[in-house]
Amino acid sequence: MVVDLSKRVYKDKEAGTAKIRELYSGERVRARIAELGRQISEDFQDLDRPVVIGVMKGAIFFLADLMRTIETHDPLQLEFVRLASYGSATESSGVVQTPYLDLPNIAHRNILVVEDIIDSGRTAKFFLDYLRGQFDPKTLKLAALLDKPSRRVTELKADYTGFTIDDLFVVGYGLDYAEQFRELPFLGELVDFG
Ligand code: IMP
Ligand code: MG
Repeated sequence: MVVDLSKRVYKDKEAGTAKIRELYSGERVRARIAELGRQISEDFQDLDRPVVIGVMKGAIFFLADLMRTIETHDPLQLEFVRLASYGSATESSGVVQTPYLDLPNIAHRNILVVEDIIDSGRTAKFFLDYLRGQFDPKTLKLAALLDKPSRRVTELKADYTGFTIDDLFVVGYGLDYAEQFRELPFLGELVDFG
């Protein structure tokens, strides 16, 4: 059975009826992730014991796909943190919260941070500065599935970006609206909500 998820209309208690318009199919997302994986493999190939840090929750689908396309000489170490700057709305709160920030000693290591989306840039900037201060990494790179440069309030650019998008609110492939829609197997724009 084929289900056309792009035409699905979701009932959302908080937002009324939410419609989601497909932006990038799952296949397209995975193809792009594989390209990023090749670039990262080249850059990290000969680096000592690289550490991949996934920023929960939004990045975990991207992270899982990405890590499986990376080939390096040394095996990868995987760590997680959980950061949040959005409440349940579609506007950034401006304050970065750190519900889970428990990393082992990764001083002077070669680090790749994996984020779902860079919007204002506050979350990524906060976390990169934190890592620099705590661990003085030998290498510190940032991969983001999505980038919304028009919303930036800090100077920040990812080293590896999946897709650069306009100022749309995106859900699926790990990204949420009020903790919903992370499981959608494509990237879609949330329309007709609220
Ligand atoms: P920033 O600190 O403003 O760059 O926000 C980054 C965080 O905001 C991301 O990790 C997401 O959790 C959330 N976010 C920003 N834009 C979107 C979006 O379009 N859809 C879902 N979450 C978003
Ligand atoms: Mg979020």
